[in-house]
Amino acid sequence: MTWNIRRAALDDAASIAACFRRSYTPNYPYALFNEDVVCSNLQNPDVAMWVVETGGAVRGTAAVVFDKERRKAELGRACIDPDYRGIKENGRSQFQDLITERVQYALDEGAAILHSTAVTSHPKSQVGLQKGGFIPACFEYGKYADLYGTQRETTIEMIYEDSPLLVYRRAHRETATKITDLLSLPFAAGKDHQPDGSELSQNVDLISNHALITVVPGNQSMQDAVSPMTDALSQIIDAQDKFDYVQVKTAADYPHIALLYDALKFNNFRLAGFLPGWSEDHDFIVMQSLRTQLNRDKIYLTSQSRNFVDIVEGLGNI
Ligand SMILES: CC(C)(COP(=O)(O)OP(=O)(O)OC[C@H]1O[C@@H](n2cnc3c(N)ncnc32)[C@H](O)[C@@H]1OP(=O)(O)O)[C@@H](O)C(=O)NCCC(=O)NCCS
Repeated sequence: MTWNIRRAALDDAASIAACFRRSYTPNYPYALFNEDVVCSNLQNPDVAMWVVETGGAVRGTAAVVFDKERRKAELGRACIDPDYRGIKENGRSQFQDLITERVQYALDEGAAILHSTAVTSHPKSQVGLQKGGFIPACFEYGKYADLYGTQRETTIEMIYEDSPLLVYRRAHRETATKITDLLSLPFAAGKDHQPDGSELSQNVDLISNHALITVVPGNQSMQDAVSPMTDALSQIIDAQDKFDYVQVKTAADYPHIALLYDALKFNNFRLAGFLPGWSEDHDFIVMQSLRTQLNRDKIYLTSQSRNFVDIVEGLGNI
């Protein structure tokens, strides 16, 4: 069976919504079961959507979502109708073609870093992304609500290895921070400039009952950093009381971060990974805390993902 991949049009909205309904439980976070939400995505200039037509009808979809600076491009919102999965042509699947198409588009649009979230309820998204040139960067243990009727979903944030920003960073390997080396990731942290003042922001997802907190300590003396870091810590501990999962992203390139890192470890946070170039000025260390235990047997990891998880859990969680 052959297929055709093309950019989605407004009148694909009903078929796209149907693909999502057939692929996920209602816990899927972006409300794409709803045709109106799909329509507004299709009209959003920061979202580019594709469909796969197989056997004459739309059987799959995927998107690229840009951040507001169009610096980062996220490949996401992918699904293939359950009755049309696993089909191959010349050794390639519809999902692989969707990945290649979107990578090329994001690069052509000038994105500096391409990333995608792989789920672990099944190995296919990891396999597909891996074949498409993505490598694991962050192991997010139970970050999402139960998407497939098994348990809270653990995901792996994967980064396109040949993202322009990483190619640049590799050329400047000598600027690697200790943390990057500690995590043994194949790219280097760099810091060309830092803003003054500290930043603290929080995003909440009520469906997944999680809070994502970003902390940038600021380019200031250790003494001046104490008060903002204490504020950040109390907000984080407060979130830990309220949410099932809390993720903290901390800018990796300040010595102050060691204080927060230790305080978080003391409060049962674990290292999750390292995200290079996550903002214009910073690479981020990611830590996480989950209120419940998961059944690890239901978390499928490819050998590449397993190696990554072993490194992160072995290094940061002692
Ligand atoms: C993810 C999804 C789009 C993949 O599409 P698909 O047509 O089912 O998958 P593919 O045919 O590309 O298979 C992916 C790969 O996983 C491999 N695979 C399947 N089961 C496997 C297993 N148990 N262990 C290891 N590899 C496995 C397949 O062999 C294939 O690799 P290959 O190309 O080397 O043969 C589809 O399964 C889907 O819509 N799932 C529900 C929604 C979803 O999870 N979206 C992705 C969120 S990140």
